[in-house]
Amino acid sequence: MTIKEIFDRMDYGPAPEGNAEVKAWLAKHGQTFGHFIDGGFTKPAATFATKNPANGTDLAQITQGTAQDIDAAVAAARRAQPKWARLPAHARAKYLYALARLIQKHARLLAVLETMDNGKPIRESRDIDVPLVARHFYYHAGLAQLMDSELPGHAPHGVCGAVIPWNFPLLMLAWKVAPALAAGNTVVLKPAEYTPLTALLFAEITREAGLPKGVLNIVTGDGDTGAALVAHPGVDKIAFTGSTAVGKAIRRATAGTGKALTLELGGKSPYIVFDDADIDSAIEGLVDAIWFNQGQVCCAGSRLLVQEGIAPRFHEKLKRRMDGLRLGDPLDKCIDVGAVVDPIQLATITDMVNGSDGDIYHADTPIPAQGCFYPPTLITGLGTASRLMQEEIFGPVLVSMTFRTPAEAVDLANNTRYGLAASVWTENVNLALDIAPKIKAGVVWVNATNLFDAAAGFGGVRESGFGREGGWEGLMAYLKPVRSAKPLKPVAAIPEPRDFDPPTLDRTAKLFIGGKQARPDGGYSRPVFSPKGKHLGHVGLGNRKDIRNAVEAAHAAKGWGKATGHNRAQILYYIAENLSARATEFAARIRDLTGRDGTAEVDASIARLFTYAAWSDKYDGQAKSVPIRGVALAMNEPVGVIAALCPDEAPLLGLISTMAPAIAMGNTCVLVPSDPFPLAATDLYQVLETSDLPAGVVNIVTGSHAELAKPLAGHMDVEALWSFSSTDLSALIESESAANLKRTWVNNGRARDWMGAEGEGREFLRHATAIKTIWVPYGE
Ligand code: NAI
Repeated sequence: MTIKEIFDRMDYGPAPEGNAEVKAWLAKHGQTFGHFIDGGFTKPAATFATKNPANGTDLAQITQGTAQDIDAAVAAARRAQPKWARLPAHARAKYLYALARLIQKHARLLAVLETMDNGKPIRESRDIDVPLVARHFYYHAGLAQLMDSELPGHAPHGVCGAVIPWNFPLLMLAWKVAPALAAGNTVVLKPAEYTPLTALLFAEITREAGLPKGVLNIVTGDGDTGAALVAHPGVDKIAFTGSTAVGKAIRRATAGTGKALTLELGGKSPYIVFDDADIDSAIEGLVDAIWFNQGQVCCAGSRLLVQEGIAPRFHEKLKRRMDGLRLGDPLDKCIDVGAVVDPIQLATITDMVNGSDGDIYHADTPIPAQGCFYPPTLITGLGTASRLMQEEIFGPVLVSMTFRTPAEAVDLANNTRYGLAASVWTENVNLALDIAPKIKAGVVWVNATNLFDAAAGFGGVRESGFGREGGWEGLMAYLKPVRSAKPLKPVAAIPEPRDFDPPTLDRTAKLFIGGKQARPDGGYSRPVFSPKGKHLGHVGLGNRKDIRNAVEAAHAAKGWGKATGHNRAQILYYIAENLSARATEFAARIRDLTGRDGTAEVDASIARLFTYAAWSDKYDGQAKSVPIRGVALAMNEPVGVIAALCPDEAPLLGLISTMAPAIAMGNTCVLVPSDPFPLAATDLYQVLETSDLPAGVVNIVTGSHAELAKPLAGHMDVEALWSFSSTDLSALIESESAANLKRTWVNNGRARDWMGAEGEGREFLRHATAIKTIWVPYGE
């Protein structure tokens, strides 16, 4: 070809990245791998192939991990953990720093291997994945260094099991391994079956860094291997990234085991374009939102919401841009869109699109005849309820619909069971910052998309899971507060005396729903007695319908979340003041119920109300130091409706200790008071009624913890459920909560000293809030 012809055609020439080093590395291992356990590779056993999705060739044989392999890996991690945790923080920091340096040293090898195993363009693995991996280890070297001084009173969980997906194989490894090791845990990691190779190369790198054996173990295999890791009794914490269906299965599998759990699951993230947006930038943003990594991104901007007036022009421009995307050999540096990870994933995408009744536009761009390639696709004309509007496609497929007003944009954006991320495009900063807090998501990008950094928390709400990765908040998921954790003995109600003669006068304490006292739906009540057998009154027995009404009332009161911290503080102080005015009466009631002097409990309750009145306007967010021109704001948002089974043993203080942090942070709540001693709570209604607390912010349903736990845990409109009950309902609650993946905080049958420091503070505030990271880049 002559130079003139090249100028005439202006075609891209091939610009392939070399892969000789990767081939040499694979050859060194005989293209066959065992697991990495206790500092060394095991002998390969029954294997399966990992393939290059761009051309279908086998790259290597990978060992299918068995329950015995998981056993061996967990045992190695267990042996190594105490010593690793005892290392001075600085020593752990040095290992993480060494890992960061070695990742940079081997960056090209890692990037090429990742691209060959996963199919993502080399431009992405080289310029995004691997640099972010190194950044993650550097950042966590810093967290390890500072942990002892900044987070006293915390300890690592022990052995962490990490199960990761195939879309960002090495990055997801880094997101799990770096904070786990920084915090003093050891790790057993199971990479995804499609993409295990960079994890195995990373294992080698840990040897180069001199990481003590057993601190990191890698067991390869499929979902069965993952399930064996999740089920292993020697694992103290599970960190999972993957599909919502598997996330729910893991929630059920770990229920009641005491294992800590973080889930980073799917999404159907809205990409909102207002009519005053810089359209060209918004279109370039979309390329990154949905065609980055072939759309196989949990936070992909897969749902375009574009304001009606600009929609036709926007779609036209978008189609032209799609036509310009280049698909092909992912190792070619000029390729925009690489291969989908596996023929199975390709078939899923193809079937989902073919089953759609929308208007389908496939980019007019050449598609390689071989390999797992799918064209960039835009689908318009779908209804809000259509499957493709609601379900994650996990491919290069964008669905689009229009809106008219900002309020409608928010409604449509939130019309999903997910809540991972969102992008908002407008030149009006007021509009952007008004919309961002209204969107139910863990991350919002303003005039940007898919920005990530180790300093900024990433994670979802609703069925996108719980927990954050990155930042101090991410580290907290790998730590637990150091507490005495004595077993909590069941506290039984005082039994009915044999000679009990029911009173003729009905003195049944009602429920408190929507600011009104309400009779229990079932019409049942039970008598309450003092330890000496004196009848103190009857208490209503709430049922499933009462819970439904209370949750509805709590939702109707959600405007509370918009009240300022100052306002919320005023009301908490006012509740304290009104309680204080009746302190003697409440102390007497506690004595009647429990037989012990209630003065100290009432005093502690008043002090606790002051504590959370104080926190209302002081549990600040943060502006994160992210390496962009701009800020990433970490905002502490209310979780939503928090339900709680209050402590049995401290009838007033337990309820106040649960209610106050929840409402201080802007949540509304449904509280089930002490099961044996409910009357301290029912006396509180009058205090709440006279303290300017808006109706529905606090709802109280008395009744049996054991009976009410299930409807609360299964309720799709309850966002979090806490249990401090002395009836151990932890397993039931965690298992039932899988329905909507509500956040749970259960006591696992362990006691808490409600009078002391562990009865209040940041642990409660953390559970009462969800961090939303709002990215705001600067500049024209
Ligand atoms: P998946 O959720 O099944 O796989 C993720 C990881 O979990 C893999 O390592 C897998 O081996 C493991 N796993 C599977 N079943 C398990 C179990 N019962 N217990 C423990 N571990 C288990 O995702 P898959 O099948 O690869 O992809 C299916 C769909 O999931 C995709 O089409 C996409 O919609 C979604 N997905 C979402 C991801 C995200 O980051 N949000 C990542 C990967 C997939």
